[in-house]
Amino acid sequence: MTVFLPTFTSSVRAKKTNTMPDTLQKAWLLAAFHHDTQRYSTPREGVTVPYLTHLGAVLIEVNYIISQEPGLDADLARLCAILHDSLEDTNLDEETLREEFGDRVLAGVKALTKNETLSTKRVQMEDSLARILAQPREIAVVKLCDRINNLSPAPDYWTREKKIAYRDEAALILKQLGPASPIAADRLRKKIERYDVS
Ligand code: NI
Repeated sequence: MTVFLPTFTSSVRAKKTNTMPDTLQKAWLLAAFHHDTQRYSTPREGVTVPYLTHLGAVLIEVNYIISQEPGLDADLARLCAILHDSLEDTNLDEETLREEFGDRVLAGVKALTKNETLSTKRVQMEDSLARILAQPREIAVVKLCDRINNLSPAPDYWTREKKIAYRDEAALILKQLGPASPIAADRLRKKIERYDVS
């Protein structure tokens, strides 16, 4: 496949002065390119926004947790927030993630990627959660923040059953990963309580 990389990448690599804003910009541009044709639902039927809206929302949540809970590896958390859906939903390959962002980011994004060969969505989620728990705490923070954003009001074409299943899945995520971040857990708990399944 054609690998798209920002033009500054080669010079950054050559100089070995990979400052964090540049690395985050590289991840953001890579995500923008690979999610380019995807859209993200809004509560209003027929209205969607660019997929980057979701990635930005997860990054905003992650930044808030980093600001409130000292000791987190901000670089790891932010890069995995930006790239968390890139293996699951795009044709970006693992080798590119490893080369550009290193083994820890690749391992984190892989744990955040569901194995769609497993039988049911429930089994896929349980498998992913087990792999996230084997990763550094930052990866659990990204997953909590992902679901916080995903629990914005559901699209109005979703059935009640689908909304209830989604809320139940969020409760499982909260139970398994909540201990990784009290503040993210509290935000997710409130989102679950307020989630309208009617
Ligand atoms: Ni996501």
